[in-house]
Amino acid sequence: MISFTRGVPATEAFPVEALAECAASALTTYSSQVLQYGSFRGFDPLREYIAAEYGLASDQVLLSQGALQIVDFIARTLITPGTVVLVEQPSYDRVIKVFRRAGATVVGVPLQEDGMDLAACEEIIRQTHPLMAYVISDFQNPSGTTMSEAKRRGVAALAEQYNLLVVEDSPYRRLRYSGSDIPTIQSMVPNRTIQLSSYSKLLSPGLRVGLALGPQQTMDRIGRTAQDTYITPALLPQATVFEFIARGLLPAQIEKLHNLYRPRLSELLAALDAEMGVLATWAIPQGGFFVGVTLRKDVKAETLISRALQEGLQLTNGRDFFADGRGDTFVRLPFCALTTEEIDEGVRALARVVLSL
Ligand SMILES: Cc1ncc(COP(=O)(O)O)c(C=O)c1O
Repeated sequence: MISFTRGVPATEAFPVEALAECAASALTTYSSQVLQYGSFRGFDPLREYIAAEYGLASDQVLLSQGALQIVDFIARTLITPGTVVLVEQPSYDRVIKVFRRAGATVVGVPLQEDGMDLAACEEIIRQTHPLMAYVISDFQNPSGTTMSEAKRRGVAALAEQYNLLVVEDSPYRRLRYSGSDIPTIQSMVPNRTIQLSSYSKLLSPGLRVGLALGPQQTMDRIGRTAQDTYITPALLPQATVFEFIARGLLPAQIEKLHNLYRPRLSELLAALDAEMGVLATWAIPQGGFFVGVTLRKDVKAETLISRALQEGLQLTNGRDFFADGRGDTFVRLPFCALTTEEIDEGVRALARVVLSL
């Protein structure tokens, strides 16, 4: 069975021995902090390190148990039933669920190869008066696209004009395999942006270390929801990540990931060209975990998924990524945790499935 379902890192990418040493050292060096209740904002040295990196005050940084949990805190703090939240269409399925669970009306803005359709976005803003827009600017989940600098400036301008909070989720930002970095929306409108990031894709998702940074007042409000939820987050994983960074190990780890994942992306794109050229369209990602494929054939997601299973292929339901549910023909292909052989075999199986429908 080949799984094109979850966007998980490759198991062989985990820096197991280094993390074991960092965890042991964190436990002894910071025992009085990590074994005790601490700040709801998270482990101070890591917050201070991140704050310095972004030129912010340390209280503008909130560490939590994964970026998704911070989305949940944002939702619970800022959303009341009927609050409108814009997302790219398609977008990360779990975030759509989290916003809806808090009572939000989630509206999708069509996504183009270089980011959201800004004209459509402005029209939707005028009609629906959203409180916030959730965007994944770098190597988007699930489409793999990256928002151009011009569109980031456009989103920043819309945020200013319409008093919109931008939630910019950037867990893949440092996993760029080609091209060069584009400034974040956070750097353009820091007073209107909460930027999220995570060590899940760089070190390990099981450590559950995610972060948010943003305007002080907003971070205070979200932080109080965090405090009322768990008093303090698990501090040992955060201290372990801090040790890893303080030992200067992160750049080499990221380099290792680039070298592992870049050929997997190339293999997937080559296999798609060879097998799927007439069957589907896709954008070419410059990094991240996913290629998003849109089939030219009109199929039902359930039919596709069950036929794929017969061919030994697990797929996710494309509709989940679309706020309006119109994603039957969308297939997200995560490539990082598959070998090049599995990628080849998986794409060949996908092509057979689509041809048979
Ligand atoms: C865009 C995006 N945000 C957040 C997450 C979850 O991150 P974390 O493990 O830090 O909760 C993911 C994981 O797939 C993701 O793709």
